[in-house]
Amino acid sequence: MKKFIQINDISNLRKAIDEALSLKKEPLQFSELGKSKRLVLLFFHTSLRTRLSTENAASNLGMQVSVLNPGDGWSLELQEGAVMNLDCQEHIKEAARVVSQYADIIGVRAFPKLKDKKADQLDSILNGFVKYASVPVINLECCNGHPLQALTDAITIEEEKKVSRPKIVLSWAPHPKALPHAVPESFIRCMRQIDADLTITHPKGLELDPETVGDVPICYNQTEALKDADFVYVKNWSSYSNYGKVIRDFDNWMMTSDKLGGAYFMHCLPIRRNVVAEDSVLDGNRSLVIKQANNRTFAAQVVLKRILEQL
Ligand code: CP
Repeated sequence: MKKFIQINDISNLRKAIDEALSLKKEPLQFSELGKSKRLVLLFFHTSLRTRLSTENAASNLGMQVSVLNPGDGWSLELQEGAVMNLDCQEHIKEAARVVSQYADIIGVRAFPKLKDKKADQLDSILNGFVKYASVPVINLECCNGHPLQALTDAITIEEEKKVSRPKIVLSWAPHPKALPHAVPESFIRCMRQIDADLTITHPKGLELDPETVGDVPICYNQTEALKDADFVYVKNWSSYSNYGKVIRDFDNWMMTSDKLGGAYFMHCLPIRRNVVAEDSVLDGNRSLVIKQANNRTFAAQVVLKRILEQL
């Protein structure tokens, strides 16, 4: 594997899930594979899980890790031919080529600004690194996806499912801030590749990218959608059509124990308690959120392992 930008960059997803579960049983079984190799992680936005789990994964494979949190203090110029007489002090062309000299694999997290759909969808920072770096690049979440999270979610469902084709419901939740579409869209793409009966439920007007949704059924009635669910994946996203708008008219879409019934509860975290899901859901014995966070390590590990095997 030369890069991991979307979930379909990993070949044979079914096998990758099994491989991740084997790594979970014996995390150090390939601890020589990454010896003398360095992973450089660039976080243009904050992270708890992605940062620590990817570091753990690299360490399990014997890699060294360097982490940079450039945040807003490192203004990269992204435009070809730019006259750099304003705030940006470094062009991504140099940045990516320089980091490539220090790294064998680069991970990049850069969120959308949720103001301009076309600009966000270019994912200029991530794709700039893909274009100019001379080493493989991993997506640690961008506008168009969070594939490490989706792979994690597929691993967790595989571990917990009681039937071969579980009913999985992706249920929109309220949130006070504008959140990206990366997690739900990657989740949908991933679930479409495994044997799952997926339904999406959200209020009318909060449709996701139709190309990503494809023929997955959408049900505007949350109660109806949740009936007989095995797994309920709860996630907020801001409006896609009225791009980035926060919709506050549907606070009653918060997940409750009553709505969840006997289904497993999933969320990528971080989560706003008693806004997205009530305490009793998160503290209840059907919640998988801590297990999901743990599985982030083994999703990252299988991705790094596949890349290392081809270096
Ligand atoms: N789920 C997830 O990506 O968490 P972080 O933002 O903490 O990395």
